[in-house]
Amino acid sequence: MKNPKSILITGASSGIGRALAFDYAGPDITLFLSGRNEERLMAVKKLCEEKSATIYTKIIDVLDEDEMKQWIDECDAVRSLDLVIANAGISSGHGVSARQVFNINVHGVFNTVAPSLDLMKARGGGQIAIMSSIAGFRGLPSSPAYSTSKVAVKAYGEALRGRYYHQNIEINVICPGFVKSRLTATNKFKMPFLMESDKAAKIIHRGLEKNKAVIAFPWQMSLLIGVLLPLLPDILIERILRRLPEK
Ligand SMILES: NC(=O)c1ccc[n+]([C@@H]2O[C@H](COP(=O)([O-])OP(=O)(O)OC[C@H]3O[C@@H](n4cnc5c(N)ncnc54)[C@H](OP(=O)(O)O)[C@@H]3O)[C@@H](O)[C@H]2O)c1
Repeated sequence: MKNPKSILITGASSGIGRALAFDYAGPDITLFLSGRNEERLMAVKKLCEEKSATIYTKIIDVLDEDEMKQWIDECDAVRSLDLVIANAGISSGHGVSARQVFNINVHGVFNTVAPSLDLMKARGGGQIAIMSSIAGFRGLPSSPAYSTSKVAVKAYGEALRGRYYHQNIEINVICPGFVKSRLTATNKFKMPFLMESDKAAKIIHRGLEKNKAVIAFPWQMSLLIGVLLPLLPDILIERILRRLPEK
C-alpha cells in the first residue's frame, strides 16, 4: 500500500520494529507502537515525535489475546488502521523453551492478525505484514523451535494473502536474514551479510509499498537459502545444514 497514514507495529521498542517506526514516522502519520519495556518504548516514541508523527504507545504482551483485541480495536477507533505489522518475536537460546518461542512467534502473530483482519474485512481494505525470517524457509537444525515458528507464520501469511485478495486486504510476509538488533546481539558466530536495522526497515517499507508477497533480504541470503539450497539433493542439504552453528 502506498502512503499508509495509520500504522500499528508490535515489538516497536527495539530492533527492526523500532527502525520501522522511525522510518514511517512523519507529519500526518499516526503510529501505534507496542512493546513490553517501557523505557525503550518511550525512547522510540520521542524519536518518532521529533519527526512530527503522532505516537500512541502500549505496554502489552502479544500473548494476551483479549487485551490485544481490545488494544487493536481502540487504535482503529482513534484512526482507522491502514497497515498492521505483526513484528514482535523472540529467538531461542538463553533458557528460553521451544514452547515459549513458538507461543510468542506464532500465537503473538495470531493475536495481532485476527483482530486486524476483522476490522479490515468489515471495511473492505487494509494491509497486514507478518514477520517471518529467512530461517522460515525450512526447519533448521541450528534453531529448531525458532525456524519452525517462522515456517508457520510464513505459511500463514501466504495462505491469508490468497484468501483475502478479493477483499482488498494486502497480506505480506517479511523474511529478513541477519539484522543488527537485541535479538542478534548475543549471537557468538559470524553472521553473514549482517545488516543495519535502518537499512532493513527501508527494504521492508519499499516491499510493503509494492505489496510484495514475500519480502526476503538480503538478496544473497535469499538466493542461497531460498533458491540454490533446495536445488541440491536432500543428503547434501542435510550435510550443509548440520554444520550451521547452534543458536
Ligand atoms: N534481527 C534479525 O536478524 C531477524 C531476522 C529475521 C527475523 N527477525 C524477526 O524480527 C522481529 C523483531 O526482532 P528484532 O531482531 O528486532 O529483535 P529485538 O530487538 O529483540 O526486538 C523484538 C521486539 O519484540 C518485542 N517482543 C518480544 N516478545 C514480546 C511479547 N511477548 N509481547 C510483546 N512484545 C514482545 C520486544 O519488546 P520488549 O523488548 O519491549 O519486550 C521488542 O520490541 C522478530 O519477530 C524476529 O524473529 C529478526
